[in-house]
Amino acid sequence: MRLAGQVAVVTGSSSGIGRAIALRLAKDGADICVNYHAHAGPGEAVKDEIQQMGRRAIAVGADVGKTDEARKLIAETVAHLGRVDILVNNAGIEFREPFLEVTEEHYDAVMAVNLKGAFFCAQAAAQQMIRQGGGGRIINVSSVHEDLPLPRYSPYAASKGGMRMMMRTICLELAPYKITVNDVAPGAIATPINVQVTSNPTLRQQLLSEIPLNRIGQPEEVAELVAYLASPEASYVTGSTYVIDGGLMRHTLSL
Ligand code: BGC
Repeated sequence: MRLAGQVAVVTGSSSGIGRAIALRLAKDGADICVNYHAHAGPGEAVKDEIQQMGRRAIAVGADVGKTDEARKLIAETVAHLGRVDILVNNAGIEFREPFLEVTEEHYDAVMAVNLKGAFFCAQAAAQQMIRQGGGGRIINVSSVHEDLPLPRYSPYAASKGGMRMMMRTICLELAPYKITVNDVAPGAIATPINVQVTSNPTLRQQLLSEIPLNRIGQPEEVAELVAYLASPEASYVTGSTYVIDGGLMRHTLSL
């Protein structure tokens, strides 16, 4: 197993893409820190599932948007699992509302979880990886909207654009330590974050018409790409974004 003896922290891994990533990295042999925010039950369930696979796992409640909690998440992982080799910044939130109506509260909430949380988890994880020696992997679950505009989601798009430049910048500062940093940019994936759109027949049809492969992706498909980037095989891959979107980014006019 290519990740045997390694420890991975996956933020926001009690559901959706994060859950699939936690299970997939465990399948490759990694011990896992499962992170949840509000609901302990689903986080504990993912932890139990990983332990049943024969891995070590902990579930830690932390709001990564609060810097002390982000740091605590990494510290708890080291305290219980001994090290951190892989960080997956997956936790993310979004609100569907027009730019002209976005409140400061919603703006701050999105930026805190999606960007500030990823930033300070990355910083704490990188400090730990450097103490250990031997490199590491930081993988951000970004979005096609780190590049593609998304009306009615302006703070979300801004946070993902920020994530992209954070990745491109810190990969340079961490390269001397053999820590690679990359983004995975999913399109429409069947998870709780977009259920408001995917469960509405009209909006769902509109969304599907934008996707050349004409379907919503599955969290497990994203997890496969993350597993590659987390692996020793990806040792020469740093500083880029890997899109997984059924062709959404290539969609254009059909005249
Ligand atoms: C968003 C989803 C959206 C998808 C495709 C994702 O980043 O979280 O709400 O459906 O991009 O536009």
